[in-house]
Formats: sequence, C-alpha cells, structure tokens
Amino acid sequence: MQSKVLSEIHTNIYEHPMVTKQVWENFTEEDHSTWKFLFERQAVVLKNRACDEIIEGMEKLDICNDKIPKMEDINAILKRETGFSVVAVKGFIPEDLFFKFLRERKFPSTCFIRKPHQMDYLEEPDIFHDIFGHVPLLVNPIFADFMEEFGRKGLQSIECGLLKYAAALYWFTVEFGLIKTANGLRIYGAGITSSKGESIYCLESEIPARVKYNIFRTMKTNYHIDSFQKSYFVIENYEELFKSVRSLNWREMQEALKQFPQIDQGIYVNELEKVT
Ligand SMILES: [Fe+2]
Repeated sequence: MQSKVLSEIHTNIYEHPMVTKQVWENFTEEDHSTWKFLFERQAVVLKNRACDEIIEGMEKLDICNDKIPKMEDINAILKRETGFSVVAVKGFIPEDLFFKFLRERKFPSTCFIRKPHQMDYLEEPDIFHDIFGHVPLLVNPIFADFMEEFGRKGLQSIECGLLKYAAALYWFTVEFGLIKTANGLRIYGAGITSSKGESIYCLESEIPARVKYNIFRTMKTNYHIDSFQKSYFVIENYEELFKSVRSLNWREMQEALKQFPQIDQGIYVNELEKVT
C-alpha cells in the first residue's frame, strides 16, 4: 500500500506541465561560452570564499568549465552519492511541486542559460544558478538529508498557512547561507555562489549583519529579492541546519510566528547573535 502511494506521488510530479527534459544538443556555442565565462569567473571568486563541500561536490560531479553539464551525467554520480537527482523544469514551479520534489530527493533545475547581456544579473534562476550553485552541495549526505526534510516541512508549511516563513528560511539558508569554518566564514548558499558581486560583498563588506543562525529568528527576517542582502545567517555546520529543520513543528510555532514582529535586515537584536 505504501509503495503504491509513493508511486502515485512520483507519477504525478513527473506529469506536471512544467517538468521537461534537458535536450543538451540544443545548446548553442554561445550558450556553452556563457557557461565557460561564468564558471571561470566564479572559480576565481570562490577560491577561499566557498565552503570546502561545494568544491568537493563540483569535483565529484565533474562539473567543469568547458560545456554546460548534461543532467544525465550528473545524475549518474549524484544518485550513487546521496540518492538525489536533478529534474529538468521549464522555469519557476509552484511551491508545493518544488517541495514534493525535494521530499523525493529530486532537485528541480532549469534548462536554459542566460544571454551574454545578463551575465551579472538575472531575475529568474537559470542552469548556471541551479547546477553550479545548488547541485554540488547535494553530494554532501547531511545537506542532502536537510533538503529532503525541507521538502517535507515545506509542504506542511503550506497546509498550516505558514509558507512565507518556510520561504524566508529557504532564502537565508539554501540561497544565502554562510557557514563557520576553521578558516573563517565561507559561503554555502547558491544565490551567493552563482553571483560574483554578492560572493565578495557577503564576506567582505562592512554593510551586512552576519547573524548567528537561529531558525525562528531566520524565519522572521524580511528578505530582499532585488538587492544584496543586508543580513546573512551563519550556521556552525550542516548538522545544525538539518536538526533545526527536522525538529521544526509548525503547529507549535505558529502562534509565536504570527505574533512576533517581523525583523528588518541589517540589524542585530542582541550582541549574542553577532558573528565576528
Ligand atoms: Fe536557487
């Protein structure tokens, strides 16, 4: 009975009209050149700025500069490492579908790549953001477990009418998270790793607040979709992230989430949360 239910979920999400297949042969030479330019530029910027797990993931998955990766090649390795795989989608997908994929250890990735005039800014995710930014960390077993758990908790947030808090949490962790390491702060968020300007700014600018990660505090912080962040949340390690999401109970937390005022970016609510 259980396997039938799971297979139905599986079939349904694959039949969604936003789900597609990567037709790698359709990429043009200009597309591959765009990938190469972005890859090589970020390889320089991310040295000593990205966390080791991202670099290890890139190497294991053999993501390199010369061509846009084939999703089937990535999946052959990724499935073996953590059971995750990439699913091609046409663009933004509904939140519930996104979370259902995560719950099934599938990561939705766009197929198209930006045009040369969009090298520095793109409103929607493209394959460079999704594959270069997100996929390397899925090789890490704890981060992979965290993403699966996020899918489960994301779906529950919709049922509880608390999606906006799950969205803020995703934003400040998966997209814009920083991690403490023995060598100082490092980047793990994909929104940062795929952006030259923000990769430097998030670690070196005096402007943003670097705040000790706390799940409630993170979910209550307003986020900006059209400018660099003024607050970054710093985790100690991926276990901390995974455990915080695994123990998240929306029903217990919903009153506090609704009553506590929203927090602006760029401030510390106390000295203890300051990461120096
Ligand atoms: Fe993303």
